[in-house]
Amino acid sequence: MIEVESMKYYDFLVNAIGNSIEDPAKLPKGYQLIGHVVLLSIHPDLLPLADVIGELTLEFESRSKSVGVRMGPTRGQKRIPNYKLVAGSKNTTTTHTENGIEFKLNPMRITFSRGNVNERIFLSQQVSSDEHVVDMFACVGQFSLPIAFHSGANVLAIDINDLAYDFLCQNIRMNEVHENMTAVLGDCRDVTFRDADRIVMGYLHDTVDYLPHALNGLRFRGGIIHMHSLVHGNDERKIRNTIITESSEYGFMAKISSRPIKKYSPGVSHMVFDINLDSNR
Ligand SMILES: C[S@@+](CC[C@H](N)C(=O)[O-])C[C@H]1O[C@@H](n2cnc3c(N)ncnc32)[C@H](O)[C@@H]1O
Repeated sequence: MIEVESMKYYDFLVNAIGNSIEDPAKLPKGYQLIGHVVLLSIHPDLLPLADVIGELTLEFESRSKSVGVRMGPTRGQKRIPNYKLVAGSKNTTTTHTENGIEFKLNPMRITFSRGNVNERIFLSQQVSSDEHVVDMFACVGQFSLPIAFHSGANVLAIDINDLAYDFLCQNIRMNEVHENMTAVLGDCRDVTFRDADRIVMGYLHDTVDYLPHALNGLRFRGGIIHMHSLVHGNDERKIRNTIITESSEYGFMAKISSRPIKKYSPGVSHMVFDINLDSNR
């Protein structure tokens, strides 16, 4: 994903329609480009002008063919984004290239978070070829494809969303990692896996509830779990304590380090907990 935040874009819009609106400062200052699709957030007062802003954005961004405007929050367990096409091609299925990987997806119907880009690259550099990796919330392969491609590790990728799973299967073939990567459609808690060296939990809503299933699938002597979570205010200590208690119930001693990924909303951050587990049996 390319995040464009430029005064040039804002100035371009001000130049084009600044005179016809009450408060030009409300015009968007940037956008995200995923493949050929621009995703825009527009001030509610300017939503009646969404089509005009969309057409201008197509004119400004030569790589774009479609423009979607955010209409509301991402919905449900399957994380369905809420965008409306306001300009350009109705074909919003696109291929986005990042870190040497081609991701085919429809960003109007599948979430592809801009804030995770550094983590996607970082994680793909941590894995060695002899590992067995499980991605419990794979979506179109944001974490698991770069891991499979760059490390050659054996990867199992699970997702409950059938559209995401469809793209995931296509992406596995397109990036030619079918020999070391497998996709499964379903709730990760219903998928039995064993002897994982590393488990990625890239989901933000009550992720800690899924931890027992991850611990159950880890190899006997231990491994590492990358657990993403929303952290409200000072809740980090609470989450750490839960991780330690759960780990110990499954016979592991946990060493935890955490990193912020991005600000999620006021008072809420997205963090990743790297949980190193050693058997205490
Ligand atoms: C927001 S996406 C995150 C994708 C990627 N892991 C990342 O962090 O960038 C979360 C994904 O988790 C999937 N998901 C949610 N609950 C699930 C479950 N119980 N089992 C498997 N997949 C699940 C959703 O369908 C969605 O594709």
